[in-house]
Amino acid sequence: MKTIEHIIELTQHIDYLKKEGKTIGFVPTMGALHKGHISLIERAKQENDIVVCSVFVNPIQFNNKEDLIKYPRDIEKDSILLEENGCDILFCPKAEEVYAEEAKESFSFGALEQVMEGKQRPGHFNGVAIIVSRLFDWVKPNRAYFGEKDFQQIAIIKDMVRQLNSPVEIVPCPIVREIDGLAISSRNVRLEEQAREIAPKIHYILHKSCSMKDNLSFSQIKSFVINEFKRIKEFELEYFEMVDDTTLQPISQKGENGVVGCVAVWLGGVRLIDVERYY
Ligand code: PAF
Repeated sequence: MKTIEHIIELTQHIDYLKKEGKTIGFVPTMGALHKGHISLIERAKQENDIVVCSVFVNPIQFNNKEDLIKYPRDIEKDSILLEENGCDILFCPKAEEVYAEEAKESFSFGALEQVMEGKQRPGHFNGVAIIVSRLFDWVKPNRAYFGEKDFQQIAIIKDMVRQLNSPVEIVPCPIVREIDGLAISSRNVRLEEQAREIAPKIHYILHKSCSMKDNLSFSQIKSFVINEFKRIKEFELEYFEMVDDTTLQPISQKGENGVVGCVAVWLGGVRLIDVERYY
């Protein structure tokens, strides 16, 4: 595996690979890599000649300073994991170089960003779109791979690609879970023992509500989920929404598109998100 820190070195190498006719699969990450990321690398390997993974903790997508400071970082471990799993290029630039040119771009995603994560974390998706569009410019991938745990992020990035007329194909990939059902996330390492024991309940509650979907209205499902989270004192529910899987707008009954339930919940000082597909 080639490790590249500087943008110019990356773009030159990518130009060479493109001239050789290679296809590029790209997995953008903020590091602290886990089985979820590895599943993206594996999928990218199956579908492309070359796999590039970026590790960059993007400061401008954090609306909470403490979250940025506490975000887990371990580039040595990440690098070993990527090498073991057949990644071809690790791109790990420094913030001074990525943002040598001040981030003045301003994206607008309309209703897509006015719900859930976008509503709770002002500026977050603009920060995500800025870094992902810059990374796409440098890596020039044929395909880019994203986990469906960040369901809204995928919708935003698809819209960004549409707005920019970018040729990159966005490939959503299924959520990877621990055996006990907890959605795998870089933030899980920050859960203390007791919180880690409780955390699988997030998936359990969503899954249980889904198993009752034939007998309950959407508002009954919503009440059930909210009440279940309230019953466990360690949880502080930020939102639970049942939304159209394309427009991401909250809905009260099934329409033409699929339906997903998205949740954000605080547990022991850690913010966790998860998604359940109802239809
Ligand atoms: O999902 C993430 O890890 C980040 O939001 C991303 C896409 C790498 C942009 O910083």
